[in-house]
This record gives sequence, structure tokens and C-alpha cells, in this order.
Amino acid sequence: MKILGIESSADETAAAVVEDGHLMLSSVVASSLDLHTVYGGIVPEIAARSHIEVITPVITQALADAACTWEDIDAIAVTNRPGLIGSLLIGVLTARTLAIIKKKPLYGINHVLAHAYANFITDAKLSGYSLSQNPPQFPALGLIVSGGHTQIMLYRSHTDYQLLGQTRDDAVGEAFDKVAKVLGLPYPGGPSIDEAARHGDSASVKLPKPRVDNPYDFSFSGLKTAVLRAAQQMAGKDFTLPSTELPALLTKTQKADLAASFQRTAIDILADAMVSAEKQYHPKSILLAGGVAANNSLRHTLSRRLRTPLLYPDIKLCTDNAAMIASAAYYWQQMADNPYELSVIPSL
Ligand code: KG4
Ligand code: ZN
Repeated sequence: MKILGIESSADETAAAVVEDGHLMLSSVVASSLDLHTVYGGIVPEIAARSHIEVITPVITQALADAACTWEDIDAIAVTNRPGLIGSLLIGVLTARTLAIIKKKPLYGINHVLAHAYANFITDAKLSGYSLSQNPPQFPALGLIVSGGHTQIMLYRSHTDYQLLGQTRDDAVGEAFDKVAKVLGLPYPGGPSIDEAARHGDSASVKLPKPRVDNPYDFSFSGLKTAVLRAAQQMAGKDFTLPSTELPALLTKTQKADLAASFQRTAIDILADAMVSAEKQYHPKSILLAGGVAANNSLRHTLSRRLRTPLLYPDIKLCTDNAAMIASAAYYWQQMADNPYELSVIPSL
């Protein structure tokens, strides 16, 4: 069964064809990231406008790369929740129109839950991907870490899953982005902090780990403020110094030390929660997913601290893509949605 996936919930416009949930025949991702860099974050209007411009060529390219015509496609899967409303609408309206014209079943997909399905893609027609050969085993624990979400999921099967905990405020990727801004490092902050941290001492700045009642919930906004305070102190100023003036006052070494200490603390917070979840739920696989799963230090720390086999997707499948949407649709085998009615749900 070949499913065409469509993804447009944030700044990536993506389409992919995946066969039987695991064989990736194509994956095309067009990002409007460059247009947002000057603003230090995604501008929803710009994202929506750029989805309109590229969605048709992206889908055409995904079909061509997979050597498929519409006859070969069995169903269409599209992210319809959660995300930026204007961005979601472009993908969903395109998918609805195609489903009606081409007479294909249509599936609305939850983007956050689908992130973990990048781990079910074990085979690719495309070169340049390094994929795990083994599919995940149930029960599986999922750590979904992106710019919008930080969740621990328990998957007992494809269709029986439970949210164990999530962030109470900022997502971990958002914390990376905000800390990078304080340090004057380029957006997106994750890769910038990751790079700067390689040259810093992660034990140089003591940062607090927040306490939350549920051991699987997170809070990252206090950590971000603690980095700001430490940076103001390093610069020899008090807390009234505007954060915009900090980058010019900090040396490269101080920035690297702050980046490394922040990254170490954020990763420890995630790893502590996963170690507790592993003890309680005895999973057979642990699935790392989402943009922050691209972080090497996170991968190493989790592999070292967890006893269960840790799976993480190829870097190109960690960030937003449509292959994970097509894969999730295959395994969930949910009831098809009405193409005249499928709506978008920006926040869950
Ligand atoms: O999954 P994703 O592409 O989009 C969302 O659904 O949010 O994740 C983007 C997030 C951004 O916050 C970015 O800073 C973060 O993933 N990210 C990283 C790394 N690469 C991307 N965070 C830490 N280390 C990285 N290497
Ligand atoms: Zn995402």
C-alpha cells in the first residue's frame, strides 16, 4: 500500500510516498527557514504564504521521485493537528482537494504522535539515509522533542498509546532557540547551541533543574531565565541589562560555556524522566523523535543511561517531514476522514 504524506504544520512544506509504512520511496522537504532567520523565529504569515507557493511543486516532485502516478497511490495522509493554523490549512485544503479529485481515502494525522513513526522507516529507495534495520518493538516509550512539543508517550501498540507527561511551559527546542537568541547565536538555536557547546565546558555554569509533581512532566522556562541571569552576571552586569545587549558583551568562550552548560542541563532533565519511565514501564524499545533528536549529545546520553535499545531516525527524518506522516497513517489504519469535512486543530 502506497501512501502520499503531506506535511505543512510549521515552516516545512513536505510530501513523501511511503510503501507499507516502512519503505520510503520519496521524501521532499522545502523549508522557508531562511525567510524566518532574520526575525529569530517562525513568522506564521510568511510560513503560510510560502506553503501556498511550493506545495504543488513539492507534491509533484514527491510523486516523480517515487516513480508513481496517481494510479499507484492508495491513500493520502495529511497533518491536520497541531500547528500554525494558516500553515495547517494549506496542507489540509490541498489534501482534501486531491482526495476528492483523485478519489483517494484521506487520513488526518496528529503531527506530534507521527514524529515517532520516523523510526518505523527501515528501508528507503533513496540514497543518503542511514536507517535502522529493525522496527521498534512494543511496548515502546517515545520521547518526542521538537520546537513545539516535549512529550513522553507510552505506545502499547500502534493504536493503544498514552501520554505520560509533557512540558508545562516551553518546549525543549523552544528553550534551545531562546537561549541561542540570548547568546546571539543564529536561529534555529538547536544546531547553533549544539555546535557552540562542543567548544565549551558543560560544568562551568551551575543551572537549576526544575521540580514538577509528575515525574514525566517538564518545565524549561526557568532554565532559560537561569541562563539569562548567568549571562548577565558573566558580563559583569545586573538583571536589568536588556538581553539584546548581551551578545556584544560576552566572549566566545563565555558563550560556549553557557551553551554547553545549558545543553547538559536540558539533556539531563530529559534523560532523568526517561530513566524513571523505563523503570516503571519496562519498554522493549525507546523511540527518540522530533527536531531535537538531531542532537548528538542527547543521543549519547540516552544510549548511556538507558538499558533498553534506543532508536532514533536519520537526521533528515528527525525534523519535520512527510514520510513520518505517511508511515503513521499506514500503521494506525484508522477510519478514513470525510474529504469535504476534515478540519484543522491548531492546538490539542
Ligand atoms: O520537529 P521540528 O523540525 O519542528 C517542530 O515540530 O517543532 O523541530 C525543530 C526544533 C527547533 O527548536 C530546533 O532548534 C531544534 O528542533 N533542533 C535541535 C537540533 N536541531 C534542531 N535542538 C537541539 N540540537 C540540535 N542539533
Ligand atoms: Zn515537528
